[in-house]
Amino acid sequence: MTLENDRFLRALARQDVDRTPVWMMRQAGRYLPEYLRVRKQAGSFMDLCRNRDMACEVTLQPLERFDLDAAILFSDILTIPDAMDLGLYFVQGEGPMFKRPVRDAAAINALKAPDAERDLDYVMNAVSTIRRELNGRVPLIGFSGSPWTLATYMVEGGPSKDFRHVKGLLYGDPAALHQLLETLATAVTDYLNAQIRAGAQAVQIFDTWGGALSTPAYKAFSLAYMEKIVRGLIREHDGRRVPVIVFTKNGGQWLESIADIGADGVGLDWTTEMGDARARVGDRVALQGNLDPSALFGSPKVIRDEVARILESYGPGNGHVFNLGHGISQFTPIENVQAFIEALHELSPQYHRG
Ligand code: CP3
Repeated sequence: MTLENDRFLRALARQDVDRTPVWMMRQAGRYLPEYLRVRKQAGSFMDLCRNRDMACEVTLQPLERFDLDAAILFSDILTIPDAMDLGLYFVQGEGPMFKRPVRDAAAINALKAPDAERDLDYVMNAVSTIRRELNGRVPLIGFSGSPWTLATYMVEGGPSKDFRHVKGLLYGDPAALHQLLETLATAVTDYLNAQIRAGAQAVQIFDTWGGALSTPAYKAFSLAYMEKIVRGLIREHDGRRVPVIVFTKNGGQWLESIADIGADGVGLDWTTEMGDARARVGDRVALQGNLDPSALFGSPKVIRDEVARILESYGPGNGHVFNLGHGISQFTPIENVQAFIEALHELSPQYHRG
């Protein structure tokens, strides 16, 4: 099937584009009133994820409002531990929680990687429904959490500020943590490959909590497992390359190492300067980012200035996918998102030839 808008895939392949492509992490979600209406109809967030038509509807919602260059599957990174029977539930204001956290070697031993096509079939159904409804407008991004980030939720039993349980395991029983990460790397590889077979045209690995680790711990407990996943992914499907983006929040200091694991793109949060990042990775990978999501609380003028600054920092030429440096806040005024996308459309063509 032909793709009407392939800017996002071209930028990841470091090919020329007419303007810098853009999508936003968490682009479907609570800042959109139409999302809140569908979630209410579904009953809960997980019910929404499990309903292919509703998951498709909310995936397309941001594309109806804004001229974005990619869609991202509506789902969550915690579908894998949910399929491992940890008892996922959401508490208003506290975030995701697990009824049965995995705290020791015995619990880790008992875990098995889910069979994605069987145990997470609702995700694959959502992917194929979205692909059909997109009808070639823009590419569809699939995603997963990194093994380390999934492990933080599974071991802590919910969100954490200090990661004391999972870091307790890291320093107290590293072999057990390695076993958990090994199981998760197998699960993530299988999950992403199933999404690709179902129709995902690019995939992103969210390593939200990699930046909480020391440098050697990051390399051994997060990056090594993402490298393993990248090496195990289907890289060509339906005659087209399927690019992989790796995003470690707060991973700017490890950029060169991240660029070496074989991914096509590296996501940056807002703390690393685009131009410096580009100089450091050269033409090894494309870069994605990195507007501070909080800039969307500024005026349209401030937003435009920030977009201009980031485009200028990256400089002319290919290999840049514009994005936020992390997920969009649920409190973001919608007109400011519009101002962001308009500024990018107006300012970015001058950085590309033709
Ligand atoms: O980008 C997209 O639009 C695709 C959908 C998406 C969601 N979660 C939907 C969602 C993606 C890519 C994610 C990834 C995710 N989920 C991450 C990694 C990315 C990041 O932001 O760092 C993490 C850490 C999670 C775990 C998770 N799920 C959290 C922390 C929350 C918020 C809980 C809360 O109460 O604030 C969720 C739930 C969730 N996932 C929501 C959405 C739209 C909100 C659910 C709701 O409607 O109430």
